[in-house]
Order: sequence, then structure tokens, then C-alpha cells
Amino acid sequence: MESKPENSYGVIFMTQRIVLAPEEMPKQWYNFAVDLPKPPKPYLGPDGKPITPEMMAPIFPMNLIEQEMCTDRWVDIPDGIREILAKWRPSPLHRAVSFEKALGTPAKIYYKNESVSPAGSHKPNSAVAQAWYNKQAGTKAMTTETGAGQWGSALAFACAQVGLELKVYMVRVSFDQKPYRKVMMQTWGADCISSPSDTTEAGRRVLAEMPDTPGSLGIAISEAVEAAVSDKTGKTKYGLGSVLNHVMLHQTIIGQEAKLQLKKAGEKQPDVVIGCAGGGSNFAGLAFPFAADKVAGAKIDIVPVEPTSCPSITRGKYTYDIGDKSGMTPLILMHTLGHDFVPSPIHAGGLRYHGMSPLVSAAVAQGIMAPKSIHQLECFEAAVLFARTEGIIVAPETSHAVAAVIQEAKQAKEEGKEKVILFNLSGHGLMDLKGYQSYFAGELSDYELPQAQIDKNLEAIKGFPSAE
Ligand SMILES: Cc1ncc(COP(=O)(O)O)c(C=O)c1O
Repeated sequence: MESKPENSYGVIFMTQRIVLAPEEMPKQWYNFAVDLPKPPKPYLGPDGKPITPEMMAPIFPMNLIEQEMCTDRWVDIPDGIREILAKWRPSPLHRAVSFEKALGTPAKIYYKNESVSPAGSHKPNSAVAQAWYNKQAGTKAMTTETGAGQWGSALAFACAQVGLELKVYMVRVSFDQKPYRKVMMQTWGADCISSPSDTTEAGRRVLAEMPDTPGSLGIAISEAVEAAVSDKTGKTKYGLGSVLNHVMLHQTIIGQEAKLQLKKAGEKQPDVVIGCAGGGSNFAGLAFPFAADKVAGAKIDIVPVEPTSCPSITRGKYTYDIGDKSGMTPLILMHTLGHDFVPSPIHAGGLRYHGMSPLVSAAVAQGIMAPKSIHQLECFEAAVLFARTEGIIVAPETSHAVAAVIQEAKQAKEEGKEKVILFNLSGHGLMDLKGYQSYFAGELSDYELPQAQIDKNLEAIKGFPSAE
């Protein structure tokens, strides 16, 4: 009999890392909006009426606006985009053999490794698409915001690939915590500014009101949108790293690859799919192709995980709100903590957003996904165990997914079930070591957002249209 290269845990070495051939990279993106049992509600203008593509044209190029409002189930990925994505895609799927062993769980844990991109996260999947479509549309420069710096550096990489200028407004607390993200952006040729800044009207207003604010994604978005629309030539456009439908669409390449890889690993389907959720893009990217199966009858638990200190889906309200601080964006139906919300300066900078992707929100509201929130200390503890077993030091955002996986794996152990758990390793944390340093120094604490603060922030959006 042929001998199998098995390790002490009985797992064949080959199945620890499941790779696809270059030609197996998906040729289309998947639009989950089409398969939502109740169709998503439109974005609204200040007058409460659905906005038209023309109304979004000062901010985005028309080719991306068309994708935002797309009603096709499948959208072809242009060859020019696939050519850039092929620098690191298809990304590997790993079986977390050592992690499973440390947990003593009967569960099989798989992770899709998005940390292998040049910028170190899933963000380039959409950054490359957005930069490429902008270039096609004649855009000369882009503006954007960034929380942890992952999106800003991803778009800086993408703009360098296609030849666009880029200005990034980086949330102040992350700008101070993560100086090397700025250097990455600079290396790829982008300009990175601490937000709030005195370079925009929106930034100056916030600085006058709250000079010591740690900043927020909502404020940084206002600045970046203002910087784009104030270029009267119309050649500067804005790019958003999460939340919007076209970003979710671009990320679905992750879940499609994972599906194929799980099949190659001999799994019919996962029992649980987990991703951390800030604006929802890495989670949606992995989960939407599986959510389609769930809508069609498959039994899969789909879990977005957020920080207890910024619990938009678990404790926010499902209602219309603006996507930024000062109303530069349309009204979006989503789970929200209110656009005035300034989160506590936790290390998972990319999860500190007041709202959530409208498609993820709709899926949660329709019972297709079940969100949970986890405290920061549990997340770092999980990340350290993962690093000591699997080797990868994950981003603080990703640590939320890892902590949720541990909860599931422990439950599987209690129930004696051999569950298949799949999660998205959305990024590495090698630029986030300050967070790990503070954790080891015992300087981090847990923070539960008081209900009174949520109520106060929601008071400000009382007059906005409701979900009904
Ligand atoms: C590594 C990583 N994971 C997750 C997120 C959260 O964003 P999203 O919910 O859009 O995936 C970020 C955002 O910056 C990130 O950098």
C-alpha cells in the first residue's frame, strides 16, 4: 500500500495548504444583491428620493456607479484587473492543523489567507478594480480615507499599478499608532494626511469643535469626498474601501476561490463561515458565495464578528443613515450606531466604523447571518495562540475572526462534533505590532459601549427614513 505523508494529527501534509492553479482564478464576481430574498432598498438623497447615477457622478466614475447599482448575478472581471490580481491570486486556503491540535477540537478549521497580497490584506482585491476602472474612465487622481492604514496602502499600491495620483486621509489615532503604514503609502507614491486635517472644510470644522479627537472613519470619509468634489475639472474621484455594493462585489473572488479549494480538500461545504466585519468587505467577500447556498437551502452558520466597543450590527439600529460625518454621502439603509459616533481608540482601527455594508445589513436583517461581538483582550489572546501555532501574526481586525473561531471550536468539542469551520484571515499584523506590544504590556482593556451613548447618537438621526 502506498504510504501517506501524514503528521501526528492524522492530516495529510498536502491538505494543510490548498492552492489553485493561476487559471483557476475566478473570471467573474458574484452579486449577492440579486439573491437576497428581499431586494435591497435604494440609496436616498437628502429629499428622501432614490438617488440617480448622475447624482453620484461627481464622486465616482460611471463604470463603478453602474456596478454599484448592478442587477446582474455575475459580472465579468476585465483581463486588465485579473492580470494585476494574478501577482498574488489565487490566495491559498490553509487547514489550521496546529491550531486545531492546540484547541483539542474535533472541528476542522480552514482559513483563506488574504495576507499574501502586496499590501498585506484583502483590500487590494477592490483597490485594484477601483483604480483600474477609474483609469479607464479618465480619472487622473483619487482620494480616499483609511482607518488602520490597510485600505490606504492597498489603494496606493493599486494606483501605482495603473498610474494614478492618490491622497489618503488617515484617521488620526491610526496615523499616530502606525507610522509605517504612511511610509508604505509614500513608497507607492501616495500622499497620506492625518484626519481631521486643516486641508478641508469638514476637517477644520471638526478640529474647531474637538481639537483632541482621535478622528473617525466618518470624519475621514467627509474629508476625502470633499477633496475629490472640490476639483472642478472632475478628474479627481473618490474610492471607498468597504461598505458599498461594488466593493463587496470585488471581494467575492475570495469566497469563490475558497469554495473550490474546500472541494479540493474533500469538504462538501463548511458548517460555519466567519469573518471580522468593519464595513463588511472581507466578511462579505468570503461569505456571499456561501450565503447564496444558504438561501438555496444549505445549512451554514454565517457569522460576522465585530468589536464590543463598536457594535454596529449587534447593537446598532437598522435604519437609514449617512455614511460619513457631515453628509457628503447618500442615505444608506444599514445597521448604524449613528454617524456622530466616535469609537474608542481600540487597535482594530479598521473595525471602528459607525455603519455596515447595506448588503451585509440586509442579510442580517433577513436572518441569513448571525453577528456577534467580542472584546479586544479575548481577540489578542486568540491572535497570540494562532501566531504560536499557525505562525501568522494576524491583524488586530482579523483577531476578531480568530476569537470567534475558538468559540466555535470549543463548542464543537463540547458537542463532540466534527464541524468544518472556515474563516477569512483578512490580513497580517506586521504593521500593527504596537497593538501586540500594548497587549503584552498589559495596557489594553475591554470596553463595552454604554447604551446611553448609542441612544444619544441615534437621537441625531431620528428624522431619517426608517427601514419600512
Ligand atoms: C486586515 C483587515 N481586516 C478587516 C478590516 C475591516 O474591513 P472590512 O470589514 O471592510 O473587511 C480591515 C480594515 O481596515 C483590515 O485592514
